[in-house]
Amino acid sequence: MNKNAGLNRRSFMKNAGFTALAGATGSLAVGASQANAQGASPTQSYPRHANGNFDFDTVYNRAGNNCARWDSPPRNYPSGEFKFGMGVASMDFECAPCITEALMERVQHHSWGYLASTEELTSEIVKWNGEHHNNDIDASMVTLSDGVYPGMIAAMRSFVPRGGKALIMSPAYSGFYTMASAANIETVDSELKLKNGRYEIDYEDLETKMTSDVRVLIVCNPQNPTGNVWREEELLRIGRVALEHGIVVLSDEIHSDVIRGDQRFTPFSALPDRDVVNNSLTFNAISKTFNLAGMKNAYYYSKSPTMLRRVNQYHRAELSTLGVVANVAAYKYGREWFDQANAYMDRTHTMIEEYVKTNMPSVGYVRNEGTYMTFLDFAKTMASIGAEAQYESHGKRTAEHYFQDWMVHNSGVYLNPGSVYGKGGAGRMRMNIASSQSVVKDVLDAMAAAVNKV
Ligand SMILES: Cc1ncc(COP(=O)(O)O)c(C=O)c1O
Repeated sequence: MNKNAGLNRRSFMKNAGFTALAGATGSLAVGASQANAQGASPTQSYPRHANGNFDFDTVYNRAGNNCARWDSPPRNYPSGEFKFGMGVASMDFECAPCITEALMERVQHHSWGYLASTEELTSEIVKWNGEHHNNDIDASMVTLSDGVYPGMIAAMRSFVPRGGKALIMSPAYSGFYTMASAANIETVDSELKLKNGRYEIDYEDLETKMTSDVRVLIVCNPQNPTGNVWREEELLRIGRVALEHGIVVLSDEIHSDVIRGDQRFTPFSALPDRDVVNNSLTFNAISKTFNLAGMKNAYYYSKSPTMLRRVNQYHRAELSTLGVVANVAAYKYGREWFDQANAYMDRTHTMIEEYVKTNMPSVGYVRNEGTYMTFLDFAKTMASIGAEAQYESHGKRTAEHYFQDWMVHNSGVYLNPGSVYGKGGAGRMRMNIASSQSVVKDVLDAMAAAVNKV
């Protein structure tokens, strides 16, 4: 950008009327119920950073800004039953100040032609992976993309011939099924088994499903929606079976930064088996870490040049200037913000666990290890309201979709139906927990009141 434009960033912000600059926190606080009312005007402010602490408690109202999490569900509830968007995987927190600052600075240069280079972005990606995950990646082996989707679809097209299949350990991110469909291939699920309060891989089933038409295995680490952070021995074991069967591992690690305090993330590409690693590609982005999904920025890499070349043949993506600016700022200056956000969400998970166990005894809870999702088991409530018997006559795709609707009508809370996550999702609903804790508490109270009355 033009550094000689005489722009003084601070004075620009003052002159532009950013009177709610750091310090004016009190006037910005809105109560949860006010924030959740549709149509309430969003809080427009410059992000706060007081005494070294970022503020995740003050509700940041996203409604009314064409926001998928808060503005999409109410379209199905025109009578106003919808109150809480706990579905789509984005955070409700005001973003890291360094991101807004960088964008504001770039916006002062009034020209939007093609970008010259994305080298700085790649170099920050390499640095982040080295510093955060102790994973040594060669910059020349990183391909930038505008989302995990385009890279994954290219990999599926590259490795899976027509009539071939992708193997998925489910319940798993619904997008994998959409990607497979875009790549014109089939999927097969190997269901995780709930054992001693943790979702575990059923290795016997997984290997049985590795038939000759299966060409890729999708690993989701951490697993969305169950929250598993896969351990080194688990990844090694699945990596070795996949290799024996000539199946390429596609490891989606988009949630790799959102890890609970007592867990450790293991990148697939850092496993201590070179052959296993060279049989894989990893897909990642910093978009879950910093809530940058709308900035369309992601990457994939492999430690095998041959694998990478094969996928690159089927992939093409261009990044937007503002996306690059925002992502570089997050990588470079966002660490402190994220560490605090992650610790906050860790405490929110604990709060939810205690609440569900104490106040919603009929709802099954499995402790989350990573991601900002929690996967709750509402099978008992669903049975009580006859969801299985009712859903078809109500024009719903599955019993879980019927329950989604029931929950909105009875509590205002919108959750994602477990059935969209493949086998193992029956009776479950996914809840996004990345909100201010006062909102999460309102959501829990509303759900408990609905569930406990049936
Ligand atoms: C596991 C997983 N992969 C990929 C995505 C989507 O990634 P992108 O928006 O970069 O395509 C999501 C979004 O929720 C996700 O949870």
